[in-house]
Amino acid sequence: MNNKSSRERVMFQIECITCGQKYSSDMTSYVCKSCGDLLDIRYNLQDIAERLPNPDWASRPLGVWKYLELLPIQDPTEIVSLKEGGTSLHHCQKLGSRLGLEKLFVKNEGENPTGSFKDRGMTVGVTKARKIGAKAVICASTGNTASSLAAYAARAGIQCVVVIPEGKIALGKLAQAMMYGAKVVSMKGNFDQALELVMESCDQLGFYLLNSINPYRIEGQKTAAFEVCEQLGSPPDTLIIPVGNAGNISAYWKGFNEFFSVGLNQSLPRMIGIQAFGASPIVDAYKKDSDVIKPVDTPETVATAIRIGKPVSWKKALRAIHESKGMAESVTDDEILFAQKLLAREEGLFVEPASAASIAGLIKLKDLGEIDAEERVVCVTTGHGLKDPETAIKSCEEILVIEKSVEELARSLKIPIRISAAQA
Ligand code: F0G
Repeated sequence: MNNKSSRERVMFQIECITCGQKYSSDMTSYVCKSCGDLLDIRYNLQDIAERLPNPDWASRPLGVWKYLELLPIQDPTEIVSLKEGGTSLHHCQKLGSRLGLEKLFVKNEGENPTGSFKDRGMTVGVTKARKIGAKAVICASTGNTASSLAAYAARAGIQCVVVIPEGKIALGKLAQAMMYGAKVVSMKGNFDQALELVMESCDQLGFYLLNSINPYRIEGQKTAAFEVCEQLGSPPDTLIIPVGNAGNISAYWKGFNEFFSVGLNQSLPRMIGIQAFGASPIVDAYKKDSDVIKPVDTPETVATAIRIGKPVSWKKALRAIHESKGMAESVTDDEILFAQKLLAREEGLFVEPASAASIAGLIKLKDLGEIDAEERVVCVTTGHGLKDPETAIKSCEEILVIEKSVEELARSLKIPIRISAAQA
């Protein structure tokens, strides 16, 4: 990695996405102090372009911190890491040929240390939290943010509180958050209400907020787009991604644009966001050609990770979709569960239901003629299948129960018993 003196030349500012108000890099508020909207971290990309790719770029392992020059942390010794990023980009030839696509790839973010893409954002966000001396961190979560924050807070030695919607998160995620030592608070209400509560409580209770409204999270998450470009040699034609609170689609779009601006990309992909049918305010806005969303009061879907009716980053997501000439589509729970099983059985990739939304979206859009056979498509799968074992078991065939006997085993499997030469 670079030495500190060259790192210190990296400058960034924090900028409001709506009123353009600029703040210095030591600002710690999550929203614009003048208009209350979301913030973005902005670099001097011209300056960075002159230094990239630098001589040790190629020798660094693929992962979030390979891209130090494009991250808002100046000193590598401050980093809180569990070795996140560097996930596989699988060429899915079997699934691709079934769908009539030669160039189908899956970016499998379930390979991250806690099993979801959230780790990319948390390594940066918790590094920032420790740097500013935060004593405690907090998030609202449908599960994965909670487990990831709990792990990174443990690593950093910072107290962690996670607020989850009552009875609504997948078992694997709950087990992780508890085991990593977070204080788990179950709140009556849904994710959107839990997020409102934590945002309200932060200042009063002295917590540092690590939901994706925090722009440092987005910085870590954008590195997945850098990796996709490097793994393919250039950006894909189309990127299909599940959308919940809408931080991740915004992060990928930021990443593709930054690589473009520093000259490491010659093109930009079309961004396609997929939501679950019962929780699809961004898709509704896109289809109505509206530039504002109408929140869904009681979001419902089997994909609990994206059971979100009032996505906080909706404006960034709609911008990503429009600027990239992309689109948004919704998929039903049946389509999600079908896609989850298909990906597992055709490609050996077990992802959680929210992740399978990208595959379900691909199937639907290919059928609708929105995706061409020659396109190079990357579907992002965001979390590991073991996060939600209950849903997986429910959607599979029943297991066979037998006594210890070869005959019974053969009968239950409906296969004949072979007579060996010695017996014949
Ligand atoms: N996929 C998975 C597996 C997720 O956990 C999430 C979000 C998303 C997709 C959607 O990403 O919110 O950036 O659009 N999970 C959050 C959580 C909300 O609390 O774990 P997004």
